Amino acid sequence: MRHGCDTVIVSRRQDKLKQSADLLTKATGRRCVPIQMDVRKPEQIIKAVDDALAQMGRIDILINGAAGNFLAPAASLSFNAFKTVMEIDAHGTFNVSKVVYEKYFKDHGGMIVNITATLQMRGTALQTHAGSAKAAIEAMTKHLAVEWGPDRVRVMCVAPGPIGDTEGMNRLGGKHLTDNIVKLIPIQRIGTKQDIGDTVLYVVSNAAQLLTGTTIIADGGNCLTDDNNFIARRAMLQKFSKL
Ligand code: HXC
Repeated sequence: MRHGCDTVIVSRRQDKLKQSADLLTKATGRRCVPIQMDVRKPEQIIKAVDDALAQMGRIDILINGAAGNFLAPAASLSFNAFKTVMEIDAHGTFNVSKVVYEKYFKDHGGMIVNITATLQMRGTALQTHAGSAKAAIEAMTKHLAVEWGPDRVRVMCVAPGPIGDTEGMNRLGGKHLTDNIVKLIPIQRIGTKQDIGDTVLYVVSNAAQLLTGTTIIADGGNCLTDDNNFIARRAMLQKFSKL
């Protein structure tokens, strides 16, 4: 928004959306329209995209950032727990992309940025559900880039590592992050929301016109050096859940 976009933000919780829209408008002076929607419900998406187009007149950029996550060993995931995360992350990304493509991008071109993660790259312990969903999104990104490229649609993934002050970090053990863990990261710090905003800004800009169907990893090198020991991580989870 600081770079000139008016924005529609969507989520399940109207109260949180309204609060966020007010903050974003106040910070940037741009228009922000909050629309309630669940990415798992196609009929709600169709209505939301119609509403967005009626209010804004056009869509240039779609950012798919909806994600559900928690730490759990694969063997303790219920069938519904795995399905829920797949539906929010992978199905949600497909559902929204399809509707925006059909209603607008097919005739006007556009840009899709899917926010994934680095979990799937090394089979991160306690993250079978989220990693499987993010891997599906990365494959989907390639398929859509191939099929929609001729319509002037670029499709990209941005894969953040640990980002401070986010719901994801809070739920995935952020409060137990120690200096020693941070020192494992090559750039010696975790990411910020600004870092990810800047990366997405580059990806959607004219400076990145050749980029499509691929993933930009924005994690300060974290996935190259992060510890990934299942036995130790499971023990850590058990310890923290007792605190
Ligand atoms: C095991 C769990 C669980 C947990 C929920 N479930 N939390 N299982 N451990 N901690 C199970 C439930 O028991 C249920 O299965 C099933 O998941 C669905 O749960 P519901 O609460 O009914 O579903 P819903 O409200 O739709 O969504 C649940 C949720 C959601 C996916 C957990 O509340 C959520 O994700 N909130 C967090 C959002 C978030 O943090 N997003 C950012 C993610 S960051 P049963 O069998 O009992 O019915 C991210 C990036 C990672 O993903 C990168 C990090 C580096």
